[in-house]
Amino acid sequence: MRPAIPAPTLRQQPVSVTRQMAAALGRLQAEAKAKGMTLHHLGAGYPHPEVSDPSDYIGQKRRYLSHLAGGDPAAQRALMTTLYGYTDTMGPVQARQAFARVYGHDFGFTIDPDCVVPTVGATGGIAMMCSMFEHSGDPIAYIVDAPTYTGLISRAQLYERASFYSVPLDLEGPDPVVMGQQIDQARADGKVVAFYYTVTDGHNPGGISFSQARREQILEVCRGRGVLIVEDAPYTYISFEAAEHRPRLLVAMDPDAVVHLFTASKIGLPGPRVGMAIAQAKVQLADGTVVPIKNLLLTEASGSMLFHNPEALRSFEAYLNDDEMVERTSLWPVAAAKTAVYGENRRILLDGLERYLGDHPELFSWTKPGAGFFSVFTFRDGRVRTDAAFVERLVAEYGVVTIPMFGFYSVDARERDPDVGLNQIRLSFSYSTGVGPARVAEIEAAVAAFGRAVRDIYGLPPID
Ligand SMILES: Cc1ncc(COP(=O)(O)O)c(C=O)c1O
Repeated sequence: MRPAIPAPTLRQQPVSVTRQMAAALGRLQAEAKAKGMTLHHLGAGYPHPEVSDPSDYIGQKRRYLSHLAGGDPAAQRALMTTLYGYTDTMGPVQARQAFARVYGHDFGFTIDPDCVVPTVGATGGIAMMCSMFEHSGDPIAYIVDAPTYTGLISRAQLYERASFYSVPLDLEGPDPVVMGQQIDQARADGKVVAFYYTVTDGHNPGGISFSQARREQILEVCRGRGVLIVEDAPYTYISFEAAEHRPRLLVAMDPDAVVHLFTASKIGLPGPRVGMAIAQAKVQLADGTVVPIKNLLLTEASGSMLFHNPEALRSFEAYLNDDEMVERTSLWPVAAAKTAVYGENRRILLDGLERYLGDHPELFSWTKPGAGFFSVFTFRDGRVRTDAAFVERLVAEYGVVTIPMFGFYSVDARERDPDVGLNQIRLSFSYSTGVGPARVAEIEAAVAAFGRAVRDIYGLPPID
């Protein structure tokens, strides 16, 4: 065998907990099947098949493009040439304009389409934001929630000189006093604070939406210390709050302080990888010049993806039109069809947890998310340790797939408290394989199986 190619500067990066679980799923599934057990999904945060059938999306795109061409074959060809040709790094202006109008209307702020930069999903937005701060070679600090999204951890730690300063979450959001202290500490440690990264609505994995009061405090802390905020927003439309009670997006509260990462993955479909970074904020460079972040993002984009797929962006534009090919004023009616399903799943999960485990509030608690796909379940008495072996046991013995929380904590949080997250698991209610009544039955069965498992582990009498 030939010797391996020497690559002493390369390093193997740790694999995120959600990926580890996804990788183990095939084996666990086979084991469960061999035992004649049904596998219950409370792990994956995937869109539900009932509300992510691509047929309508593709049909709408076709109709919209024909509408734009007006039935003229030459116009159709010219349009297709733009959709399958080289484009601008900013992508087609029509898609950005339509997005700016609809999203701005829905969340109550004015969006300048010239400050909207297409990204490859929210993931691409995260990557570009991190990359932007890495070029200097300086040590970088990220202010993050404890727990935070593993996608941010995975991306940020690709840079050797990155570190995390995390801020514990409670049911309203991060602690603003600790946030201020962490920013100060990072700077005292000689780090450049890149930004505070968060997910304000339907926090993944925190299973909460931040309260309005907490949002105001966060903005005050970050503005007061000159720290940029990156608001990752996959679940803004997957909201279970009445319109009048929905808290405001940080970017709507202060577009000059926040880069907002919209993604169409949950309100539309994840495959086309449509994301839009709303970047109206400006930053001051070392030499004192003030530049729009949008310009820096464009440099990132032109060096990484060069340009987004114009067909994908214009297909999303089609989605922003109704059946009459009139641009929608709002995506909330589209969201309502999705939240009807996710809301029902959420209700089944929360009702089931109450039914099966609500008699022991001293032992168990769980978050009631205002948006998104997740609830965090806490074993309050420290009797179980929710490590990898525990979640594997939940699968192997009870057929219930969940995600342990410990992997969602950045390294500083785990150094501060080696047991952090080891009394919690993340329960997802977004996904099942069946649709309609089969979906309802599957989610009911999943929460019943989880309830039975926990009661059995704790030696509590079963509840039917
Ligand atoms: C908080 C958060 N950010 C980003 C993503 C990934 O989004 P995208 O598909 O747009 O890359 C997810 C998806 O699960 C998420 O929960």
